[in-house]
Amino acid sequence: MVAGTVTQGTLDSYRTGMLVVFTYEDADSAEYKQVAGLLKDELAELKKAKEFEGKKLQAAMLRTPQLPFRKLLLVGLGKQKEADLETLRRAAGTAVKIVREFSKEFVVPFKGAAKKGLAEATQALAEGILLGDYRFLRYKTQGLDEIKTLKSFTFLVEKKEMVNPAQSGLARGAILAEAVNYTRDLVNTPAADMGPAHLEAEARKLAKKHGLKLTIFQEAELKKRKMGAIVAVGKSSAVRPRMIILEYKRPGAKHLVFCGKGVCYDSGGYNLKQKMLEWMKDDMGGAAALLGMLDALASLKAKAHVTVVIGAVENLISGEAYKTGDVVRAMNGKTIEVANTDAEGRIVLADCLSYASTLKPDTLIDIATLTGAAMSALGPNAAAVLSPNDNLAESIIAAGDTSGDRAWRIPMWDDYKEDIKSDIADVKNLGFSFYAGVTAGAVFLQEFVSKPEDWAHIDIGAAVQEERERPYIPKGATGWGVRSLTKFVEEC
Ligand code: BES
Ligand code: ZN
Ligand code: ZN
Repeated sequence: MVAGTVTQGTLDSYRTGMLVVFTYEDADSAEYKQVAGLLKDELAELKKAKEFEGKKLQAAMLRTPQLPFRKLLLVGLGKQKEADLETLRRAAGTAVKIVREFSKEFVVPFKGAAKKGLAEATQALAEGILLGDYRFLRYKTQGLDEIKTLKSFTFLVEKKEMVNPAQSGLARGAILAEAVNYTRDLVNTPAADMGPAHLEAEARKLAKKHGLKLTIFQEAELKKRKMGAIVAVGKSSAVRPRMIILEYKRPGAKHLVFCGKGVCYDSGGYNLKQKMLEWMKDDMGGAAALLGMLDALASLKAKAHVTVVIGAVENLISGEAYKTGDVVRAMNGKTIEVANTDAEGRIVLADCLSYASTLKPDTLIDIATLTGAAMSALGPNAAAVLSPNDNLAESIIAAGDTSGDRAWRIPMWDDYKEDIKSDIADVKNLGFSFYAGVTAGAVFLQEFVSKPEDWAHIDIGAAVQEERERPYIPKGATGWGVRSLTKFVEEC
């Protein structure tokens, strides 16, 4: 990852290949005013020609060989009142993709006295820069020489008292971005190289890096513990199912338990998928987000007690695979009619949540690429949050709002419980037809939670991947959940 630093100085004497200045549409930022003063009429002319007016994410580059900075990149933040942290992240992501074509390093100046919000601003900018610069190159062998890479960036602060807040914001942003990019790597890696055994190896690495407690329930242990649900889904693959449990514990904190869907590949099983099969390496996106969250929490030395429970399986077709019509029994004793082998995530999570409930958590949250219905409901811009607990749902959504992972609530009224009743078992893994798919998933999961009033379900079926490039979210894995859940835990 690109290295960021904070330095004290003024932009009129600072040598760099590229100076990046942000400004507004309806007001000139202090930094913009200063560079305007150093140049002749260039910036006024740009404005007159409507080539750069500070509109949101508008960008213009000027060569300024007469000045210590050789090039100037202007990026618009839109209307000052509307510019929030997300605007800064997006502007920084826009900037970094232009900068790296022209320079190996760049400088962002901050003028004036230490203002409230400097740490938040540098954090948001660092996130935008480091997340926007992400590329997944693991499998590229050709053309790597032509890819232009950035080496470093500097936040240049004018006053001494600005150094500390700028540094702490930068450090936080860098930790979070690194964790998000790690999650993106896990999700972008094809199933052949990111199966249940690889996921276990990743958990092992993470445990070693941060001194986390790691427990693995291999298949025999899952059977011994009567976890018939995860075993049923996982038996279709030559790579056997397993449950991965990681614990980060600082004394005195509430115990938060997270369950993650770790379906490393989802073919649909005998209800073979008709579409989006090529996406299904991302079906462990919930598990990957939790690994990223743990990485961030540990790096931030958060005062928290967090246990992560991952159900790692592959949903394939084989002579051993589970079949439609089968009845399987989860660890909490409830029986599940397999109405559709493609609704496998909720079956895996049935055992994860049953086990998690035995840990008596203060709060229990699961995160899963559970439904395609999440895509119809919200598209990739937001995850769906469902919970019987208004406060819990609202705090997850609020943590997402400030951190940049957007989420929206979907109801789970009791009426929907009727839809998952089974004629031959306690529940079935499908609602009424394909109606209210996101809610049907949630009411099913609720059956395996001991205290639903302390539980929330997050469906990232859509938010896990992006098909279109966004300012700081490249095509492919988004890393949704790392920033919001880290923030949520810190605020608990
Ligand atoms: N992993 C999928 C959900 C999914 C589909 C996420 C497409 C992202 C893109 C999940 O296991 C699944 O297949 N769900 C079914 C549930 C249905 C059979 C009730 C779905 O959404 O179609
Ligand atoms: Zn499925
Ligand atoms: Zn799935």
